[in-house]
Amino acid sequence: QKSGPLAGRTCLVTAGPTHEPLDPVRYLANRSSGKQGYALAEALADLGAKVRLISGPTALRAPAGVDASFCETARQMNALVVEAAEATSFDVAICTAAVADWRPASVQDQKIKKAGKDDVPAPLELLPNPDILAGLSAPSPFRPRLVIGFAAETERVEAHARAKLARKGCDWIVANNVGAGSNVMGGPENEVVLMTQETVESWPRLSKEDVARRLAITVADWFSKPHNS
Ligand code: C5P
Repeated sequence: QKSGPLAGRTCLVTAGPTHEPLDPVRYLANRSSGKQGYALAEALADLGAKVRLISGPTALRAPAGVDASFCETARQMNALVVEAAEATSFDVAICTAAVADWRPASVQDQKIKKAGKDDVPAPLELLPNPDILAGLSAPSPFRPRLVIGFAAETERVEAHARAKLARKGCDWIVANNVGAGSNVMGGPENEVVLMTQETVESWPRLSKEDVARRLAITVADWFSKPHNS
């Protein structure tokens, strides 16, 4: 039995990008490194929580003491999340994964070939992926007590975060500016705004580890309030 303010609590964390294959050698993806999600999984475990990490492809090693599963696509990540949420009533779910919103409508069995040098590429047809955060946030017997989303924005961060909070149905949004020059996506630091239904808090620029520790402490504080536990 672990000790700490989150001892006895169960946490689900999604992290990393997803890769959406086009053919055996190509995929659509994004610049997420997984650093923020992995740091968060570690920070929650350090406070005593039992942590389940569900991660897309990254170059990182799962933190010690964290139960990690890996996947490639958004649909695989969704299946793992749904299975985990149905098996465990999580106290908190934090979706840091940069899930691809769309996937190629069809995946070719063989490498897509160029016929000749003047060949015009076929248009890329896309289909929407499941929204994992919205699915977790929807009322159900499996809804975690506290659901937290991340919102990577390149402009009007607060306004977009407020809209996202309502649209996704989650409890908190951690919004960050990933605009050109911010070096947040893939970089070592993050500058976030924590938005709840009632409050907005701008945090200073911190290492992703410090953002993770501060968020884990904020979660622990929330659960320590008698009406939230
Ligand atoms: O809508 P947007 O992608 O900006 O929302 C970001 C938040 O939603 C993140 O917490 C991300 O993990 C989550 N998300 C998700 N599944 C998707 C798209 C986003 O869980 N398909």
